[in-house]
Amino acid sequence: MLVFAKIKSVQQKIKSLKKGTSVGFVPTMGALHKGHLSLIEQAKRENDIVVVSIFVNPTQFNKKEDLVNYPKTIDSDLSLLKSVYCDLVFTPTAEEIYSNNIQSQLFNFDGLEHQMEGKFRDGHFDGVGTIVKRLFEIVTPHKAYFGEKDFQQLQIIKKMVQKNQIPVKVIGCDIFRENDGLAMSSRNERLTKEHRNAAPFIYKTLKQAKIEFGTKSALEIVDWVENEFKNQPLLELEYFEIADEETLQPIKNKNSAKNRAFIAVFAGKIRLIDNISL
Ligand code: PAJ
Repeated sequence: MLVFAKIKSVQQKIKSLKKGTSVGFVPTMGALHKGHLSLIEQAKRENDIVVVSIFVNPTQFNKKEDLVNYPKTIDSDLSLLKSVYCDLVFTPTAEEIYSNNIQSQLFNFDGLEHQMEGKFRDGHFDGVGTIVKRLFEIVTPHKAYFGEKDFQQLQIIKKMVQKNQIPVKVIGCDIFRENDGLAMSSRNERLTKEHRNAAPFIYKTLKQAKIEFGTKSALEIVDWVENEFKNQPLLELEYFEIADEETLQPIKNKNSAKNRAFIAVFAGKIRLIDNISL
């Protein structure tokens, strides 16, 4: 496994390999867990070589303390990446990526950026768009893999690729869960024991919402979920929405489009998100 920190060296290496070689790419911010590894394993199956980037992107954090506190576990990340036969790792510094100008490009994602996470994390998706576009330019992958865990992010990246005509196929991957259903996340490590024990309620509620969706309206389900969380002293619901997968607009009535339920919950200070296809 080769590790590069410089744009020039990673580009040269990929260029030297590329003739007839398919390149799969998994961008990450490190603190890797089995959810990340499942993306890398899928990329391994579908490409000749797999490139993983580890870069805690400053422009996508709307709270400075979240950026400062983001876990950095490079040694264990690299050994996990070796264990799944990752070929190439790109670990740039902020200076390497942004020079002296740590700022986002401003994007128009046709309104996707104003829904759900966009309402609570100002400028977040401009930061994500900026870094992913830059990484695509550097790595020039054939396919890039993103988790459905961050479904809004996945749709926004698909939109960016389409609008900027970037020659990469964006692939959404299933959400990888703990045995008790909690979606894997580097944030889970920061939960207190009590909050960790309470957190599986999030996915349990999503699964029940999926069942209810067979007979009830979207509005009735939203009401039901909001009430369920009133009885959970350790969990604070930030939003629960049933939305169209393509537009991410909340639906009022059932329609023929593909629908998905999205949730964000505070477990103490830790914000958790999850979603389920309906
Ligand atoms: P990060 O949070 O490190 O996640 C990297 C990728 O792993 C994302 O595509 C995310 O959706 C996926 N992922 C995380 N947990 C998952 C799980 N439980 N199951 C399946 N996939 C999971 O998302 C980012 O980094 C950044 O925003 C990034 C795209 C790298 C841009 O900086």
